[in-house]
Amino acid sequence: MNTQVTLQQTVDALVQKGKGILAADESNPTMAKRFQAIGVESTEEQRRSYRSLILATPGLGEFISGVILFEETLGQCADDGTPLPELARRQGMVPGVKVDRGKVPLANAPGDEITQGLDGLQQRLEEYKTRGARFAKWRDVYHISTSTPSRLAIEANAEVLARYAAICQHQGLAPIVEPEVLIDGDHGIERGAQVSEAVLHAVFHALHRHRVVLEHMLLKPSMVTPGKACTQQAAPEEVAAQTVAVLRRVVPAAVPGIVFLSGGQTPQEATANLDALNRLSPQPWELSFSYGRALQEPALQAWRGDPANAADTQTALYRRAKLNGAARAGQYRSSMETADA
Ligand code: 13P
Repeated sequence: MNTQVTLQQTVDALVQKGKGILAADESNPTMAKRFQAIGVESTEEQRRSYRSLILATPGLGEFISGVILFEETLGQCADDGTPLPELARRQGMVPGVKVDRGKVPLANAPGDEITQGLDGLQQRLEEYKTRGARFAKWRDVYHISTSTPSRLAIEANAEVLARYAAICQHQGLAPIVEPEVLIDGDHGIERGAQVSEAVLHAVFHALHRHRVVLEHMLLKPSMVTPGKACTQQAAPEEVAAQTVAVLRRVVPAAVPGIVFLSGGQTPQEATANLDALNRLSPQPWELSFSYGRALQEPALQAWRGDPANAADTQTALYRRAKLNGAARAGQYRSSMETADA
């Protein structure tokens, strides 16, 4: 099939109304941290068991349009031998893959980092495609402090994100472009807004330079919030207003969807904030979610590595996905948190 048609079909499937993306692409060190919090050792087999379990959640495809997998998961199978990307597909969820190789300090920019993984990317994408991946994700991170992110970090990270996106489109995989402005720090929401605007401005400038087709990508940004340690926290209405103000300045209307990361917000906060964002509709783009922790935390707490907790684990994930599905339409109410618990 023509690459442009393939990319369009993938993007259309991912931005369906009432649905969002499940980020289950934790690298092995990150998964070790998540498992440690629930007293589980992070072995390849435990990761396979947990991820098979959550992907098999009955009805998950009602609220989840796509799932981002880690490279290891692309090659794993459920107990019955079904490859995990195929299990996702049968559930109506498009399988995707995280393709960056993590971050390292950026030389000559103290406190800043750069994401690596461009070398050999095209060949890796060929391989991921044969295992069922239809879209990809790459994450850049920006630390907020009095001296970061530097102009150098903003420019260098934008450049690699754009190169990644261009390579993906060339190979027929829809790129999710993820510039994450971290929530860590004690800065106020205005500083968060200022950094997000500068970062996104540079990212779209680089995407344009690299001739990335904006219609065939998704943006995965952080919401604009105060730092986690800021004494003045913000209500969902304020987060939504500041986030939309920044996005309207810098994200072209040609981008079909903006799928937020949760970035350390609690599951309830992430849902309430997404709901407030969708109450500000109409906007030029679909406003959706691509949550990792905010979807999986309750499921991990329910699981704790015990196969006897399988049904509770799936129920916890389904419930969180459903609440975010409601937030996608601005129809979430906090009373729903307890209603069908
Ligand atoms: P969180 O929602 O936990 O921030 O994870 C999203 C993600 O994919 C980070 O790269």
